[in-house]
Amino acid sequence: MHLPRHVPLALVALLAAAPSAHAIQDWLYTPSLPSALPYLQNTTTATQLHGVQVLYAWDVLEPARNCYNFSSITTDLQTLASINPALSLWIQLQDRTFTPTHNPVPPYLRGNAAFSNGSVPACDGSNCTGNFEVDGWVASQWNAALRGRFQALLRALADELDGKVYGINLPETSIEIDESKNGFSNVSYFRGTLENAAFARSVFARTRVVQYINFWPDAYADKQVMGEAFSFMEKHDVGVGGPDDIPYHETQEENSYPFMREYKGRLPLQVIAVQEPDLSQLNPTTGKPFTRGDFTRFAEELGCEIIFWATSTPWLNG
Ligand SMILES: *[C@@H]1O[C@H](CO)[C@@H](O)[C@H](O)[C@H]1NC(C)=O
Ligand SMILES: *[C@@H]1O[C@H](CO)[C@@H](O)[C@H](O)[C@H]1NC(C)=O
Ligand SMILES: *[C@@H]1O[C@H](CO)[C@@H](O)[C@H](O)[C@H]1NC(C)=O
Ligand SMILES: *[C@@H]1O[C@H](CO)[C@@H](O)[C@H](O)[C@H]1NC(C)=O
Ligand SMILES: *[C@@H]1O[C@H](CO)[C@@H](O)[C@H](O)[C@H]1NC(C)=O
Repeated sequence: MHLPRHVPLALVALLAAAPSAHAIQDWLYTPSLPSALPYLQNTTTATQLHGVQVLYAWDVLEPARNCYNFSSITTDLQTLASINPALSLWIQLQDRTFTPTHNPVPPYLRGNAAFSNGSVPACDGSNCTGNFEVDGWVASQWNAALRGRFQALLRALADELDGKVYGINLPETSIEIDESKNGFSNVSYFRGTLENAAFARSVFARTRVVQYINFWPDAYADKQVMGEAFSFMEKHDVGVGGPDDIPYHETQEENSYPFMREYKGRLPLQVIAVQEPDLSQLNPTTGKPFTRGDFTRFAEELGCEIIFWATSTPWLNG
């Protein structure tokens, strides 16, 4: 996750204690399938799960230009089928990373001026403005030629995997980069992100398509920009989700959370993840980490039908 830190992290509202109205689907979230296997093979936890969301990076799926290799995904599909055919696979397609050593775009795009260098360094620290530390990479999606290559990947994925994977999501919109370089434009990034989401929806007929939306660069708490993004997703029949379920979190409440509530029932699907950093956030009413019930009630309040849980979540670990 990346939460902008220029507004203090604070939890402001009290948790609603309404009982859950319908059963939300619980899925696992994992960077790679092997670390989730113990939970998928354990009958106590597996019977509560619908499937697993796994991250796949662009450079792994397209090692050379137009040379696609989806064996990382098809191998995971086979593994899941052999463990329990009732479990589904969800793909998160990574065009950004939170690891400085992993540049997620294929080598032919890197440093290539025609693609605005393919990707640019990203900061995920608490003082990116004063002290820009490279914590990962973001694909230059503001560049139309780069998007052409990304959309070619989406088409190839749909040709091979439509209907075989339950869902696919494009990652969070929040980025912190040096905006003075690589031809960056916040408007082109915004429009390009929407274009990619609509394209993904147009090529997948059976696999569910979701765009994660949390923050937009240079549009913090901008209701017009966020509203335009949600209205675009409704119009193009794209689901919406977010990487972070943090009940009533202040910065999220100033950005995507109110729109998730407003669009509840109007989008084809809404999902949310409880990733590792969310598990360490404290519930202001108890002073303790949020419980499974807290996370679930809040996800339902936002209109979500699926939660992707980090494997370190306490209820999965006895
Ligand atoms: C495809 O990728 C897998 C690893 O994910 C690798 O083992 C395999 O050799 C690759 N196939 C080709 C044809 O390069
Ligand atoms: C951010 O980093 C700059 C440069 O190192 C430093 O001068 C400034 O005090 C830092 N700000 C905070 C809030 O840590
Ligand atoms: C690519 O990166 C190099 C080195 O940071 C920079 O000098 C150059 O301006 C970038 N090219 C483009 C097209 O943005
Ligand atoms: C882009 O940045 C400008 C200047 O900060 C801002 O006014 C505008 O709303 C932003 N637009 C988008 C789509 O982010
Ligand atoms: C299965 O999961 C439950 C709940 O987390 C745990 O208590 C139990 O030890 C696990 N069983 C095995 C064999 O790992």
